[in-house]
Amino acid sequence: MKGSSRPAASNPEADRLEAQVSAQIAPTPEMQERVARVRLALVERVRAVAQERASPLVRALVAGSAARGTYLSDRLDVDLFLLFPPDLSRERLREEGLALGNSVLTETETRYAEHPYLRGRFDGFNVDAVPGFAITDPSQPLSPVDRTPFHQEYLAARETPELVAQVRLAKQFFRALGVYGSESRTEGCSGYLVELMVLRFGSLQGLLRAARSWRIPVRIEEPARDPPRLPAEVALILADPVDSHRNVASALSRRNLALLILAAGAYLDQPADRWFEVHTAAPFSREEALARTHERGTHVTVVSLPRPDLVDDTLYPQVRKAERAIAEEVARSGFEVIGSSSAVEPERVLVAVEVGHSHRPAVRAQDGPPAGLDRVGQFLDKWVAPDAPVLQGPYVRADGSLGVDTRRKDRDVESVVRAVLPRLSLGRDLTPEEPGQVTVRPLTSETDGPALSEALRELLGRRLPWLGPR
Ligand code: UTP
Ligand code: MN
Repeated sequence: MKGSSRPAASNPEADRLEAQVSAQIAPTPEMQERVARVRLALVERVRAVAQERASPLVRALVAGSAARGTYLSDRLDVDLFLLFPPDLSRERLREEGLALGNSVLTETETRYAEHPYLRGRFDGFNVDAVPGFAITDPSQPLSPVDRTPFHQEYLAARETPELVAQVRLAKQFFRALGVYGSESRTEGCSGYLVELMVLRFGSLQGLLRAARSWRIPVRIEEPARDPPRLPAEVALILADPVDSHRNVASALSRRNLALLILAAGAYLDQPADRWFEVHTAAPFSREEALARTHERGTHVTVVSLPRPDLVDDTLYPQVRKAERAIAEEVARSGFEVIGSSSAVEPERVLVAVEVGHSHRPAVRAQDGPPAGLDRVGQFLDKWVAPDAPVLQGPYVRADGSLGVDTRRKDRDVESVVRAVLPRLSLGRDLTPEEPGQVTVRPLTSETDGPALSEALRELLGRRLPWLGPR
């Protein structure tokens, strides 16, 4: 049946369940009051400090989910935006913003996303103090955060208490599914994207009823005019209502959107508590992995690289690039590659590759020139030399060209990977300074650890999460 013709059927089972979950995750009235007080106190305090310091600050505001009540209580961050004149230099913006943040917050720590900001504490809450420019046209932002006050205005004007409750419910559903968060580590949906989708479809169920029949790539909102060309990887397009040239869903991967589409149908057909429960996966041990590779008749090799000192948003794309480069090179070297995965630990980055066999054949059949060409002489000289690593030949093939079977030096996948690593483009900061910092070992020689567990689950334990264990 086509999804668009599916009636907006009532789903009393889902209704009942959602009412229950909604009540559980709603912030208590005390919490809401505390958040409201902190919002006022923060802004007042910033104003006072700005005056003392003669800071060029134009305006301070709390935006994001804390300003709208759309937060999940166990992961509430208060987003404090410090807006400065558009003609201020980026350097002074950074200095002034961090100075203000530092004098208002305690236990501060400078962080960098696309943009510098300060994470600290205020009156028992985690606060992100983010400097930006006080612009008047959100389609002309000077920094990536300048649209935020306009988002706040747009959403606050449209959200009713019912919609706010639906946004929390949707965030919880997305979180339990593992697709909440637009960082490059997650490649899921940002809080703002979830809010816009709930607004657009009226409720979590409305969103899921639409999503169950989506086909990737999905366009939720036709851009006003002159639709931008689809980048090859794009999964979902939802134009930012305050800046139609920006795709709010640009960070969402095709894999995660597909997961959402499938989950939408599965949930609507069989609503249950566990769709809203966040599970931490049990560790996937080396032993478990070895039992599976035995069953699968395969071999796993693990590359370990030192972890460069980078923020996650820069690191993860490089790790995925390194994983692709290694797996492709292993395939080019004559191994059957079944799959690959990667994971990050505080000290190291792991790439795991599953191959059909741990060893490739010693023999390699090499092509030579057709009989009659000048190059034949050179070819024969090379391969009849007494020290040439020849196993058979040279000989003539059925098609009239020469061939020779040579002996390969490296047969095991570990030696092959070790030999090719220095030539691979692994991502700018992942290329180790000294070859000694890299290890390439069969899984049997690895020790259990969180990153290995994650990489092995990704490689050998994949299964749609709602189906339960195999
Ligand atoms: P947050 O990531 O904190 O989102 O960014 P949120 O809406 O507060 O949701 P949660 O509950 O914390 O997860 C704060 C604001 O920054 C802007 C949005 O306006 C968002 O509301 N933002 C953030 C973006 O425009 N794009 C992004 O990718 C992230
Ligand atoms: Mn937030």
